[in-house]
Amino acid sequence: MSVHKEVKRITTHILQEMKNHGEKIAMLTAYDYSMATIVDNAGMDIILVGDSASNVMAGHETTLPITLDQMIYHASSVVRAAKRALVIVDLPFGAYQGNSKEALNSSIRIMKEAGAHGVKLEGGIEIAESISRILTAGIPVMGHLGLTPQSIYKFGTYTVRAKQETEAQKLMEDALKLQELGCFAVVLEKIPARLAQEVSASLQIPTIGIGAGQHCDGQVLVIHDMLGINKGFKPRFLRQYAGLYDIMNDAIKNYIGDVKAKSFPDEKEQY
Ligand code: KIV
Repeated sequence: MSVHKEVKRITTHILQEMKNHGEKIAMLTAYDYSMATIVDNAGMDIILVGDSASNVMAGHETTLPITLDQMIYHASSVVRAAKRALVIVDLPFGAYQGNSKEALNSSIRIMKEAGAHGVKLEGGIEIAESISRILTAGIPVMGHLGLTPQSIYKFGTYTVRAKQETEAQKLMEDALKLQELGCFAVVLEKIPARLAQEVSASLQIPTIGIGAGQHCDGQVLVIHDMLGINKGFKPRFLRQYAGLYDIMNDAIKNYIGDVKAKSFPDEKEQY
């Protein structure tokens, strides 16, 4: 039995009820109006305007280059499309690490200029002050622990995090701290499934996993990855639900062929 079937808009309270009732939460990224329309109409609970836009939309190697203005542009397009899903927006690298005032100002811009419903920040205890300050303004905050791509140059690789006991312990402490501060959910990225299970059982708020196993309260994927638009990206955690690269490539080749062969447009396709 779904706890949210008839609702007009998914809220953080509904997400909490979903966890309480054991109903899994579905989250997917989107960065533009057309994709977000499809995602929202399909019944997604949360649309994440991830800073993965830096990779899949802009072609950067990491998430670091995307700016707050660019995130606001993507987010405002998604918000216009999302009639039912909760829209959460990543605070990009450099828009919150400076101090808590900067974190609050960046979050206010996202809420005011894009019309988003909440923000996501990477990190634990180190960013506690920023999280508290954003929450004080009434802005819902989603945490993000484990593999935090904005720190890629500190980690050096995108491999599984928190395999060692000390890092696992720190992650558990961070998760409890995020809950204590008032975050409404926490993303757990690329950590052992057993650790994600323990964290999910220890927290009252929902955990949303990516590469963190089946015991998280919800799952998130990057839309370009799960639709098979990024052909070369096939980590173990990724289930590809379509092969859009090949479908689009065939369609585009057919179009080129038709133009060259002078078979498009035909008589019925002109005025
Ligand atoms: O930016 C993003 O898409 C994310 C998800 C991978 C959780 O943060």
